[in-house]
Amino acid sequence: MTDEMLYQIDEAVIKWLDDEKQKIPALLKDMKTTTKTDRFDLVTNIDKAIEQSFEQFLMNTFPDHQLYGEEGHHEIAHLREGATWVLDPIDGTVNLVKQQDDFCIILALFYNGKPMLSYIYDYSRQHLFKARKGYGAYLNEQSLAPPQAYPLHESIISFNNKVMNDETIHDLLNHSFAYRLIGACGLDSAKVFTGQFGAHIHTNAKPWDIGAQFLFAEELGLKMTNFYREPIDFIQGGPFIISNPGCYEEVLALLLQKGGYQI
Ligand code: IPD
Ligand code: CA
Ligand code: CA
Repeated sequence: MTDEMLYQIDEAVIKWLDDEKQKIPALLKDMKTTTKTDRFDLVTNIDKAIEQSFEQFLMNTFPDHQLYGEEGHHEIAHLREGATWVLDPIDGTVNLVKQQDDFCIILALFYNGKPMLSYIYDYSRQHLFKARKGYGAYLNEQSLAPPQAYPLHESIISFNNKVMNDETIHDLLNHSFAYRLIGACGLDSAKVFTGQFGAHIHTNAKPWDIGAQFLFAEELGLKMTNFYREPIDFIQGGPFIISNPGCYEEVLALLLQKGGYQI
């Protein structure tokens, strides 16, 4: 995929995102929520509308591109071939339903399995995080610098504490500067891009929770692996850490030393 092609795809996607922004206020006014696997697993008409709109956009603009999306695009047979988009139409649906705040769209383009373009759009703050392979990462068109390295005792960390063992939670709290959790994997990860958080851990990330983070990690010199320092498969997801290089080893050591977590 040439630079020129990526540039054109990026322009088209930015236009699609602009159109979605305009539609969200009306969708928010008329939000309808249903449950999936249990009463905490929510989906709204907004999640579905955004995914359908992106599917339509691809059919009209890039008909040979594949879609791997949370709300109903789960066919995985050929995703490593050619252009594949991974989409979480709303990440942080619980926040959307309960707070009307702190939710985002996560979108990433892979070509032959390699990340090429990534977007995390924070609707409430109108913050668009974007990364383009070889061209760095941006926040609303302002270039982001790789964050300064900080050790764990100077870092805020975030993790999904429901599945952590109590001892591991206390170890992580005791060794870090502070703990915060936004509750949207894309936004918790974006805090690591900007250096506001040292690390975000998700013990069982779905592919769409982390599709965009691969390229941001590459372009910003961050660590993104599973808990055994191995690369994560973009089609499978799984245990995930994105981290400032200054605290990565310390966080992993604490996470693993007492059994850590259950999936
Ligand atoms: C959720 C969020 C949340 C994480 C959950 C995810 P969703 O995504 O990223 O931070 O803890 O595991 O499912 O369901 O709102 O797209
Ligand atoms: Ca998600
Ligand atoms: Ca979602």
